[in-house]
Amino acid sequence: MVWIWSLFVSVVAATSAQDLVGTWTSKSKMVLTGPTFYDPLEDKFIEPILPGISYSFDANGYYEEAFYRALANPSDPSCPSGIMQWQHGSYVVFPNGSLSLHPIAVDGRQMLSEPCRGDTSHYTRYNNTEHFKGYSVSIDKYHGVRRLDLTMATGEIQMPLYFAYKDPKMLPTNTLNPVPTGHKKREIVGPVQLAIREELLNPDRWWWLGVFMTSLGGMAFFFSS
Ligand SMILES: *[C@@H]1O[C@H](CO)[C@@H](O)[C@H](O)[C@H]1NC(C)=O
Ligand SMILES: *[C@@H]1O[C@H](CO)[C@@H](O)[C@H](O)[C@H]1NC(C)=O
Repeated sequence: MVWIWSLFVSVVAATSAQDLVGTWTSKSKMVLTGPTFYDPLEDKFIEPILPGISYSFDANGYYEEAFYRALANPSDPSCPSGIMQWQHGSYVVFPNGSLSLHPIAVDGRQMLSEPCRGDTSHYTRYNNTEHFKGYSVSIDKYHGVRRLDLTMATGEIQMPLYFAYKDPKMLPTNTLNPVPTGHKKREIVGPVQLAIREELLNPDRWWWLGVFMTSLGGMAFFFSS
């Protein structure tokens, strides 16, 4: 019975979520999911120029999200903190139109930077299941592009997201980094390297090449020093 139900849910999800598929980004267009935001080889973030958020959804029920937000600092408004969050996992669109995002708990990362406190950044795991009451895809009146509005569980509508890529820009959807390595550990993690080899065989994921070349450069440096 359970598998019949799962099948039903996934069929419903697959048919009703087509309009979600792709990469979406907020107005600044500076934050995008994929290897330009989070580098799983080095297990570190790549800081975008401006804050923003991005979600990607693929046709197989996987999602990825990237958040970079400034946090107001009431005691010194000229010195905000920054927070970066990355998660990936699976999503389900229910028959009532609601949307749930279930992250791979061990893979999510958060970096909180408080430059004016003189602290180094706090780099931790991040695991936040998200439930949206609904979503709508429409053509934005002013920008003339497709836009995605996500209605949060509270009923509030999240900042609009605009369509950036038809083929979602995502890291491999399997578990990448069960053990957080932070910024200390530099060597390449075995399973990640394998995942990248797999991705290289998939021509749709050409952007991995850049990451792979970087890691080769890193290895060459590692061995010659
Ligand atoms: C929609 O359906 C899901 C799954 O049955 C349920 O968890 C959720 O609460 C429902 N949402 C609304 C707004 O009714
Ligand atoms: C991640 O969050 C989910 C939902 O809140 C929770 O059920 C799960 O235990 C969490 N996993 C870890 C490893 O923290």
